Amino acid sequence: MSLPFDAIPGPPRRWWGLPLLRAMARDYLGHCEALQRRHGDLVRVPILAERTLDLFHPELAREALVEQADALVRWRRGPEVFAEISGQNVLVTEGDTWRRQRRLLMQAFTPRKVAGYARLMTDAAAAGLDAALPAGADAAEVDMDALFSGLAMDVILHTLFGSAAGADARASAAAVRRLGEIGFREMFWPRTLPDWLPLPGKAAKRRALRQLRGLIAGHLARPEAARGDTLLAMLRAVRDDESGAALAEQEIFDQCMIGFLAGHETSATALTWWAALLARDEAAAARATDEVDRVLRGAVPGPEHVAALPWLGATLKEAMRLYPPIAALMTRRTTRPITLGGHAVPARTLLRVTPWVLQRDARFFAAPERFDPARFMPEAEPPARGAYLPFGIGPRVCLGQHFALLEMTLIGALLLQRLRITPTAEPLPPPRLHVTLRPRQAVRLRLQRR
Ligand code: HEM
Repeated sequence: MSLPFDAIPGPPRRWWGLPLLRAMARDYLGHCEALQRRHGDLVRVPILAERTLDLFHPELAREALVEQADALVRWRRGPEVFAEISGQNVLVTEGDTWRRQRRLLMQAFTPRKVAGYARLMTDAAAAGLDAALPAGADAAEVDMDALFSGLAMDVILHTLFGSAAGADARASAAAVRRLGEIGFREMFWPRTLPDWLPLPGKAAKRRALRQLRGLIAGHLARPEAARGDTLLAMLRAVRDDESGAALAEQEIFDQCMIGFLAGHETSATALTWWAALLARDEAAAARATDEVDRVLRGAVPGPEHVAALPWLGATLKEAMRLYPPIAALMTRRTTRPITLGGHAVPARTLLRVTPWVLQRDARFFAAPERFDPARFMPEAEPPARGAYLPFGIGPRVCLGQHFALLEMTLIGALLLQRLRITPTAEPLPPPRLHVTLRPRQAVRLRLQRR
């Protein structure tokens, strides 16, 4: 016998939940932390006509996202906003269309396939890192977010299309940033007003979309972009096991778009927090640099080195624990009644999983505020199931997680081979939630040639 939905604790309904919406808009992560402190691990939040549940316990996150995934779809508003920007891609589709796209795309994102893109990744990243300091300078203070955004864009462009990115990458990184900001704002509107309306932000959105679509169309038209080991070559080659069909050209376009949106700012954000944390922990940074020097002996890092760089890998994972790039708003809607934590949950309930809260919970991570990469070394006890989920869990887990982990490890190793990173006098800025968890002010670090 399950407990009734109304017995789930939560804040009282006042003024249709508008004060709660205001608190969320002001400081979403602080609001979630306060909800857990006051009401526990399963919290009912009444907003307007919505039935909303916050899941603040790893077991609850697993119960929903893994065990009852077949009773869930994504929250309608998020996919709507993304689909307007990036078409019908695997991030936003549901049901049979999603299953078909996911099955096809998985073929291009297996660990073995991803290893094949490593050379394209390191070619792009090495060139960007070599240009991180002004010509002739031995040291400089560098805006790490700008550096990694440019690098991650270079990497995704080069991996997708095999092209030298350069100026394209800078303009496209800015366009993706603009779309992310506008998209995040629009997500909290009940619906999107047409883009042609003379409203604030609409002209910037149109320009950014034109820039990105033009960039992708230009690359898709180049026959050499689909030769060799590029991700585009892989996308054109995949075939459905059941029907033998390939991805349609429009689908390839839409997946390229999502490659930019889902796969560029996330990795750049993760690397920015990683560098900021590592620069402030001299011992951890020295250990990572020693490991890289010892294993690589000056060679270009490749997928074959990843297992021999456990400390570097642990620093990256720990940075994503403290600052998960997708820190909140992993949302789902129930399509039929389910049970969660022993309570009956009706159809059409909105569920929210918040990695920021789960990954900073002292019950699952001792001294959770401390940057302690040792937690992720192979000899350490692995985190409780469902407590660490920077890439999500269940069937909709990040498609690009092997890609991202490889990319970040290679970029991290290339950086430590070339540069020493130390903090400036500026403190570590607090995070600010957009679609990704960005630093509120620029993260500037001192980079010195080794
Ligand atoms: C550090 C980097 C990254 C992080 C932290 C990250 C995180 C995530 C998260 C949390 C989700 C949603 C899971 C959910 O809703 O339950 C997701 C989905 C997705 N990610 Fe990533 N991601 C990263 C990099 C990438 C890269 C590099 C790519 C592609 C090149 C990518 C492609 C996707 C796609 C296509 C989905 C949708 C999958 C689906 O709905 O079936 N991501 N990612």
